[in-house]
Amino acid sequence: MKRVAIITSSDTGYRGEREDLSGPAIKEIVEREGYEVVSMDILPDDQVMLAGKMQEIADKEMAELILTTGGTGFSERDVTPEATEEVIERRVPGIPEAMRAYSMTITKRAMLSRATAGIRGKTLIINLPGSPKAVKESLEYIIDALGHGIEILT
Ligand code: MTE
Repeated sequence: MKRVAIITSSDTGYRGEREDLSGPAIKEIVEREGYEVVSMDILPDDQVMLAGKMQEIADKEMAELILTTGGTGFSERDVTPEATEEVIERRVPGIPEAMRAYSMTITKRAMLSRATAGIRGKTLIINLPGSPKAVKESLEYIIDALGHGIEILT
C-alpha cells in the first residue's frame, strides 16, 4: 500500500491569502507514480501544529509517506524541519542529501533548504521546499527510490 499525506506549511496559504500550488504539484507527481493521496492539509508555519499533524498521521497509520512543502528556509517562521525532527524516531539523511545534491545542479540556492527526513513508526516523513518549481525538481528526482524504502518499512 502506498498512501501519501501532503502537508503545506504556509501562513498566507492557511489564511487563504495565497493559493497553494505546491500541494497540488506534489499530488500530481505522486498520483502519476501510483500513490493514493489520503489527505492534503494547509497549516500555518507553526511548529506545534505541524508536529501534531505529522504525529497523528503516523501514529494512526493513515499513510506510509508524509510529504511536507514549505517552511524549510531561513525566515524566522520557517519551522518545518524543527517540527519534523520533533516527531521522527530515526533520521534518513540520504534523502535530503540527494535532493540538495541534484537541486544544486539547477540552483546553488538549493543549499539554503534545511529540509530533513526521517521515520516515525511505519511512516516516512520528507520535507520538500516551498515553491512548485522546487517541489517538482526535488520530488521527481527522489520518487523512484522511495518505493523500495516504504516496502521495507511496512
Ligand atoms: N530546490 C530546488 N530544486 N529548486 C529551487 O528552486 N529553491 C531553494 C531551496 N531549494 C530551490 C530548491 C530556495 S531559494 C530556498 S530559500 C530553499 O529551498 C527553502 O525554501 P522554502 O523556505 O520555500 O522551503
